Amino acid sequence: MRKILLGAVLTLALMLLSAFVVTRLGLMPVSVDGTHSHLEAWIMSMVLHASIVRHAPGETNPVPLNEDNLKAGADTYKAMCARCHSTPANGPSVYGQSFYPPAPRLPEGMSNYTDSQLFWLIKHGIRNTGMPAWGSMLSDEEIWQIVSLLKNSRDLPPQSRPSGVLPRQGLLNRTGQPAEQGSA
Ligand code: HEC
Repeated sequence: MRKILLGAVLTLALMLLSAFVVTRLGLMPVSVDGTHSHLEAWIMSMVLHASIVRHAPGETNPVPLNEDNLKAGADTYKAMCARCHSTPANGPSVYGQSFYPPAPRLPEGMSNYTDSQLFWLIKHGIRNTGMPAWGSMLSDEEIWQIVSLLKNSRDLPPQSRPSGVLPRQGLLNRTGQPAEQGSA
């Protein structure tokens, strides 16, 4: 048993040392336009999803779902988000695609976040990517309005959609059910 434990500790130490050497030798790629490993993308999306599920407080959207709030959300989206995330009327944004990871085209659908997860993500941003923390630029109310827009646009009749901003198809449930609720 002691030998197994010693072996495990030594293996772990060797792995940490290798990671340190690889990092110190500058072997880790950091350029945005280089080739990207699938492993890195897979690990990062797992880290992101798990962190959002843990940190999002699980509130419900306090902003009433009405046309004024959807219109306000669409206006803010157009002014603040569309340059990276595009609109239904336009193809992917060249600017948004220049990041790594690229800014997804939100009108085409996005990951399965609950309202509060989406709110938390938008308010706090995503570290080491181009996604800013909007909490310093938008009020909570404005962020909730965007959440309403992103979550409900699929169910709106076409005439209620502020032109050029709301997606033609659903934004959410690209992968099915909403993510499991955070417990904090
Ligand atoms: C300067 C460019 C930029 C702007 C402006 C921007 N974002 Fe982002 N956003 C990104 C990038 C890049 C990512 C991808 C990060 C990742 O995949 O880890 C992202 C990711 C996201 C995601 C996660 C999508 C998913 O499927 O996981 C959401 C939601 C989001 N942004 C919403 C917004 C909203 C709402 C606004 C406006 C208030 C906004 N973004 C403005 C660059 C931007």
